[in-house]
This record gives sequence, structure tokens and C-alpha cells, in this order.
Amino acid sequence: MATETLQRGQWGSRIGFILAAAGSAIGLGNIWRFPYLAGEGGGGAFVLIYLVCVVGIGMPYLFAELALGRKSQRNPVGAIMSLVGPRSLWVIVGAFCVLAGFVILSYYSVIAGWAVGYAVKEVIAPGMPFGEFVASPTMVIGLLAVFLALTLLVVVGGIEQGIERWAKILLPILLVLMILVIIRSVTLPGAGEGIAFFLIPDFSQVSLDLVIVALGQAFFTLSLGMGAMITYGSYLAKTEDIAISGGYVVIFNTVVALMAGFMIFPALAATGVDAASGPALVFLALPEVFAQMPLGGLVSVTFFVLLSIAALTSSISLLEVVVSYFVDETAWSRKKSVLIIGGFTFLMAIPSALSQGAVASLSDLSYLLGDDGLFGANDFLSLLDVLVGSVGLAIGAFFLSIFIAWVWGASEAAKELEQGGSLLTPGLIKVWVFMMKYVLPLIIAVIIIGNLVGIDV
Ligand code: TRP
Repeated sequence: MATETLQRGQWGSRIGFILAAAGSAIGLGNIWRFPYLAGEGGGGAFVLIYLVCVVGIGMPYLFAELALGRKSQRNPVGAIMSLVGPRSLWVIVGAFCVLAGFVILSYYSVIAGWAVGYAVKEVIAPGMPFGEFVASPTMVIGLLAVFLALTLLVVVGGIEQGIERWAKILLPILLVLMILVIIRSVTLPGAGEGIAFFLIPDFSQVSLDLVIVALGQAFFTLSLGMGAMITYGSYLAKTEDIAISGGYVVIFNTVVALMAGFMIFPALAATGVDAASGPALVFLALPEVFAQMPLGGLVSVTFFVLLSIAALTSSISLLEVVVSYFVDETAWSRKKSVLIIGGFTFLMAIPSALSQGAVASLSDLSYLLGDDGLFGANDFLSLLDVLVGSVGLAIGAFFLSIFIAWVWGASEAAKELEQGGSLLTPGLIKVWVFMMKYVLPLIIAVIIIGNLVGIDV
């Protein structure tokens, strides 16, 4: 056991785990996806529903993933095998987790590469419009390579010396940079309107569709549904309180999402740029905002540096899911796993990188999917995001919650939560068991059906 722990590694401290897991959670989901969903979903009402989903559904499910990881001290595949043996069909769910990590990492790195590019855009491509920027093959593939290389460099360092160490350095920088941009944004004339839009709910905007989108976002933003938190939980010491550590992760992640709103909406309101710009909000609308405001160049660089940092602490966790599988289940060393998986991820990411205008047959898949695309996705990157990052995560979360609540058993899982824990009283544990067995599977099933029916905010 002792040598095994040495091989796999473990978090060096509670704050180290909290920062690493918060780093996984805090990413493009908070600063790119959340603001554009809130912008499209009418502002405050969406924010309120999202908060309820994060605390009421995301958090209990986060505890479950962490508990499974810590119980088994294994990657998602190994965690499931340790409870039901290698021949069970449930192992397929674990395999899906590892595959999802690989696929999400591929296209996530492409978008993160754009963020890196935008941070140095004044140097590498001054004045180039977003459409041309993403259509340049050398630009997008080069930036993808840079971002992926950074991810590999952190993960090769291992748990304490790689992931934890970098989370401790990068997250404080991220927070400081965000505060600087917020100060600039909320002091612009006319900023108040943006704050009102973001904070004051207008319930006439609420629909079932909006609730489903908010739920999906709650899972994505907390890195749930594909075993990232199983993997991070597997490096937790038995003496840690899962509920307290997990609770901090939720608080941290929520604060950063709200801070993203305070960076973006006041600036949009002050410059009169439409908040409902969709996925292009951060890369198309924001640069327009920055161009119009005093000190805009500096703010723009700061913003895209912080976006790159947030993406990096998340991509690390996606890669770690795949790497932990190979380190635990094969004879590969961490270094060998990182290099081989990194190479394959790079290859897998190329079609996504080229799907935003560089290669026509990847950028417009109407010839395969029809004019409306699949759930609205019509290029290779968006297709992967919808299939794996949206529907796939919901399906993963559904099966994992059933596995934890009914196969492992919610009461058994609760014992793992109670070990080292004091926050969850017997009464709260009962509530958690009930939620895991009945409420969560039902609600996740609703998200999946909502997705399949085709939700559009
Ligand atoms: N949570 C991250 C974000 O908000 C993205 C992410 C990292 C993720 N790991 C994940 C999403 C695992 C789902 C599953 O950007």
C-alpha cells in the first residue's frame, strides 16, 4: 500500500487539493460558457437557477464522485472494477470516462489555444478579425500545440509536484487578474445597467429549456460526469473531510463564475455590445468592447491571459483522468503515459482546430448532418462538444450516479463521506442518501431527454 501510494501520489495538503480541484472546475466553463449562456438566457433569472442547480444538485453529486475515488484510490475504470470486478458491464462506464477525457481535452485545447493567441494577438496578428484568425491553419494548430505542451508539462510533474504546485501558483494569479478587470469594468460609465441585467432576475424569461441548460452548465462547470472528480478524489487522504473540501471547491467555482459576470456584463452595457452574442461572446464581442474603452489594450491582454490560465488548470484535470488510467492499469510510467496520450490528443485535436473555417469539409458538416446540424452543431468542434461535452457528460453522470447509489450503495458511499468528516451530520447524510438514490438520477434523466429533444436558449 505504501509503495502504491508513492507510485500514484497524493495531495500534499488540504488547500492543495482544494485549489487543484477548484482549478479543474474553474475554466472556460466559468469565463466563456457561463457568461454567454447567462447573456442569452436573460441574465439574473438564469444566474439564480444556475446557483440552485450548482448547490442543490451539482454539490451532492460532486461528493459522490469524490467518495468513489477516495474509496477505491483508483482512476474511473479501476474504481468501478474495484467494486464489481473486471468483467462487469459497469466497466464500460469507466471506459467512457477515460475516452470522454481524451475527447474533451482535444477540443478544449483548441479553444484554449485561441485564448493564448488572443493574449499575444497584438504581437502575432494585430488587427486580424476573429473569423480570419481561426481560419488560419498554422495559427490554430501552432497555438493548440503550445497550450497542449503546457498541459503536458504540468501533468508530467505528478500530483503534488505538478498539478498541486501549479494550481497553487496559477489560481491566485487568476483571481488577482480578474479583480483588476472587474475594477476597470464596473467603473465604466453605464456599467450599472450591466450589473442590473446580471443580478436582477426577470422571471418572465424562465422556461423549462432554461432550467435544463442551467443544470447542464452546473455539471460542466464542476467537472462532473466523466470521472475527473473520481480521479482527483483518489489522491485524497482518508483523513480529509470530503464535504468540507468539496464545499470549498463549489464556493470557489461559484465565486469565479459570478466574478466573470462582473467582468463582462458591465463592460458590455457600457459599450452597448449585445450580451446575447452566443459562443462568440468572449472572442468576438469582448474585443469590440475592449477596443472602445480606455486602457482597453491592457485590459484585453490581462483578460486573455487569465482566460488561458483558467483553461490550463482545467485541461490538466482532463489529461489526468486518462493518465491515471494508464498509470494504474498498465505498466506505463507517468512520463510515458503523458507523452503518448499527449501525442494522440494533438492528432485528435487537429480536425477540431481546422473546423472553424480552415477546412471547408470540417467546418460545415451539412453534407452529413443536414442543414440544421445535430442539436444545432454543424462543425467538427461543436459536434464533439454537443456529443461528448453535453449529452455525453449527462449520460455519464446518470450512469455514475446509478452506479454509486445502487450498485456500490448510497449508504456504503455515505460511510466513505463520514470517514474523516464532521460537516455532514446524520440528518444531512440521510438527505444525501435520498438525493443520490432518487432525486439525482431522475433530474439527470430529465437533462438527457431535454438535450435529446433539442434545447435552444
Ligand atoms: N470544468 C471545466 C470548466 O468549467 C471544464 C472541465 C474540466 C470539465 N474537466 C472536466 C468538464 C471534466 C467536464 C468534465 O471549464
